[in-house]
Amino acid sequence: MFTHAIVRTPGPNITEGITSASLGKPDYALALQQHAAYVAALQACGLEVTVLEAAPAFPDAGFVEDTAVLARRVAVITRPGAPSRQGEEISVAEALRAFYHPDQMHCIAAPGTLEGGDVMRVEDHFYVGLSSRTNAEGARQLIAFLDRHGYSGSTVAMQEMLHLKTGLAYLENNRLLTAGEFIRHPLFAYFNTIPIEPQEAYAANCIYVNGVVLVPTGYPGVQAKIEAAGLRTLAVDTSEFRKLDGGLSCLSLRF
Ligand code: GLY
Repeated sequence: MFTHAIVRTPGPNITEGITSASLGKPDYALALQQHAAYVAALQACGLEVTVLEAAPAFPDAGFVEDTAVLARRVAVITRPGAPSRQGEEISVAEALRAFYHPDQMHCIAAPGTLEGGDVMRVEDHFYVGLSSRTNAEGARQLIAFLDRHGYSGSTVAMQEMLHLKTGLAYLENNRLLTAGEFIRHPLFAYFNTIPIEPQEAYAANCIYVNGVVLVPTGYPGVQAKIEAAGLRTLAVDTSEFRKLDGGLSCLSLRF
């Protein structure tokens, strides 16, 4: 059960964010509207949402998920692998001090890099994707911190996706949404997987929040599969964030 979320209002510099998509620049006014609707959706799921101010120096700072890994007993502040994103984590750490005791807070240190989008929690276990943003040292440090607080972690080799959760979403009760390289991945054979067609792969980045699955608007096949698995869905439009390779999970820290 989540009670809180942290988000950050996108700044006008969102148009300069990192992207591999060929979808054009985000429309800032529309991004702000979509962000407000996203916050409202989290609130509708029962979360108290802390909204951080825009960070003018960091075009990708709205994707707060990459700056921390949170569980009830521990908060690990990351060291993003994208050089232009290093520093985003400082104001997020400040905000988290209102929720965590100093003994519960840790930081990934150089040469480790880690982005929260590469970390998928399944109960008290954390899968850590070794992506172009998260290296083996960052994963090692994270797993050591988790272990200190009674959680476990393991790494996942990956080749194609930007982040682990670009292609995976855990929907509780052993249900796992999978796309691309994670469909039929032996590490996830134990799960009841819900595979996604390539044309809807973007929608693998869903989030389960207190019994509701937030799904990006415009992916009816994925929404239908999740509902067929017995889950309630809520569609939230993220078209402007998709233009920056971002999705529903990237836009918040939920704890
Ligand atoms: N634009 C989000 C990222 O690449 O980190």
